[in-house]
Amino acid sequence: MCEPEVTAVEVNQRDLVDKVLARYPEEFTVFRELLQNADDAGAENFDVVFESTHAGCTSNGTTPGLNSVKIFRWLVKNDGAQFQDTDWKRLTKIAEGNPDERKIGAFGVGFFSVFSVTDKPIVKSNGKMVSIYYCGDQLFVKKEQQLNCDRDEWTVIEMELKQESTIPRIFELTRFLVTSVTFLANIPTC
Ligand SMILES: Nc1ncnc2c1ncn2[C@@H]1O[C@H](COP(=O)(O)OP(=O)(O)O)[C@@H](O)[C@H]1O
Ligand SMILES: [Mg+2]
Repeated sequence: MCEPEVTAVEVNQRDLVDKVLARYPEEFTVFRELLQNADDAGAENFDVVFESTHAGCTSNGTTPGLNSVKIFRWLVKNDGAQFQDTDWKRLTKIAEGNPDERKIGAFGVGFFSVFSVTDKPIVKSNGKMVSIYYCGDQLFVKKEQQLNCDRDEWTVIEMELKQESTIPRIFELTRFLVTSVTFLANIPTC
């Protein structure tokens, strides 16, 4: 029982996420966190997709260079075990952690790195979809919705970017991913 003359400590969730959970010294940390989660789920494959607004040509009919293509969303996919009830519940808890000591993830905060690029991530897995969004400074998780489309065996994390951007520097990203993959158990390096 708590004492009567005490004040509960409060947390501004948006600040906590922005200043602590999604702020990293390294630019591509979100990919490492999602790679680790994919590996913990036993994935053998991990795809990153950069979605652009138009795939088309420039006004003079030429194909735009990679650096000028505008990207509005990143999709990160893996073919590991699909989300179960406990996994969906974990998305609603910051820092509850994972008791399974065979997993790389332990603290239950890595997923929140997605907020470094988006403020409304969507997770699709096991025929269901969950969206997470802010209302004021409070985060909400919309209850799982059944996906009607063809069942996808992959788990997909959709990140609509806070602001449209170009494709990240591919060489640096690749180098970062190669280093990150070295520490994984399942996802092969080639
Ligand atoms: N295939 C999957 N891909 C990504 N995440 C998954 C997958 N299956 C389950 N998850 C869930 O995502 C959570 C990752 O959240 P995270 O905040 O990184 O915590 P942690 O890795 O410390 O458990 C895992 O605990 C797990 O419940
Ligand atoms: Mg993790």
